[in-house]
Amino acid sequence: MVDLIEKKRDGLPLTKEEIEWCVAGYTNGEIPDYQMSALAMAIYFQDLNEDERAELTMSMAESGDQIDLSQIEGIKVDKHSTGGVGDKTTIALAPLVAALGVPVAKMSGRGLGHTGGTIDKLEAIPGFDCEMDTDTFVSLVNKNKVAVAGQTGNLTPADKKLYALRDVTGSVNAMALIASSIMSKKIASGADAIVLDVKTGSGAFMKTLEDSTALAQAMVNIGDRVGRQTMAIISDMSQPLGKAVGNALEIQEAIDVVKGKGPDDVRELCLVLGSHMVYFAKKAPSVEAARQMLIEVIENGKAEEVLKTFIAAQGGNPNVVDDPTIFAQAQHKIAVKATTAGTVESIAANQIGVAAMKLGAGRATKEDEIDLSVGLILEKKVGDRVEKGDTLVTLHASTMQVDEVTDLIHEAYKIGTHDTPAPTLIYKEVY
Ligand code: URA
Repeated sequence: MVDLIEKKRDGLPLTKEEIEWCVAGYTNGEIPDYQMSALAMAIYFQDLNEDERAELTMSMAESGDQIDLSQIEGIKVDKHSTGGVGDKTTIALAPLVAALGVPVAKMSGRGLGHTGGTIDKLEAIPGFDCEMDTDTFVSLVNKNKVAVAGQTGNLTPADKKLYALRDVTGSVNAMALIASSIMSKKIASGADAIVLDVKTGSGAFMKTLEDSTALAQAMVNIGDRVGRQTMAIISDMSQPLGKAVGNALEIQEAIDVVKGKGPDDVRELCLVLGSHMVYFAKKAPSVEAARQMLIEVIENGKAEEVLKTFIAAQGGNPNVVDDPTIFAQAQHKIAVKATTAGTVESIAANQIGVAAMKLGAGRATKEDEIDLSVGLILEKKVGDRVEKGDTLVTLHASTMQVDEVTDLIHEAYKIGTHDTPAPTLIYKEVY
């Protein structure tokens, strides 16, 4: 291991065998944390070339269980978002693309900190259950074309260990390590093809377009090298996506999109991501044709039908699709009002995420319990004109003691005199 650390420190490439040896040794505990953290830091400064990135990805993907989706007919296209506030696209996208025959076998996670998780959001549907074994998962996808499960088993233990180590040794932000980390999880989850939504802006992991593009390109290049067709879009996270933040509220917004309603930004993002998924799954001759097909299944009600079947198949009450009063309701609805007139120039997505967490919609630590009914609705978004006294945000709260949250919202909203256009939603596509 010392030789490998020195080799990387001096900027020399590691071979496939060396990377495999390293990942295996670290996973089984033969290589101690201090040596692995030295290697991670050497990678931070010296980077990995494209071959090394691909080898690291595959070694980590193969370090534990791998989900075998071979019994599912068709091309399994996975979608991954690098995370943000109010991102409920998976929930709307899954039935949309499944309605066109694309098999959606989605493994999702729970929320932590200022970002939410798809599993928590789905559990806001009374009865909905994401715990299942792989056989049930596979048979649900074959039957209904869609299932969403929580991450089970021992998936990518090397990544789990290395990510935790990087977190406390200053090497999280190494592009090669981030890209390999994300791609290893997608590959271990059984994806044949991958559509990535790399967020950019204040609420995103990558704050600048330059860094977001570099991460997207790094992941796309890994995908190509390891034989998984991959593309990425770079989408805005300079403000939260849509209007709803909080579990039950976000599900309702996702349902609206499936029914042809909902905020324009959520709908557009779903159409863009969905059309690439449908195209990759070879269900449409072009991305443009796929988009039209998605609009059709929204308009003719097929997507809504698939959504109901999907909810019922996982134990949820499908009537929520038609009757939002079935969702648990927060006790208090409290308006946070503008104290000045002007134009909304920015909304700090991170702070809105923290506000929702403080209302009880998210977890500060993994052990925290969350309240699925609470959250907030952004009544004004960037570019909107506001008058003094207009409601900026409606809180859905379990208590009237919301001073801290209200302060956070006022801090998050920048209202000024500059005419500000709504931000660009999709900056670019990366192949
Ligand atoms: N997200 C991941 O999954 N891995 C990283 O390394 C960083 C962000």
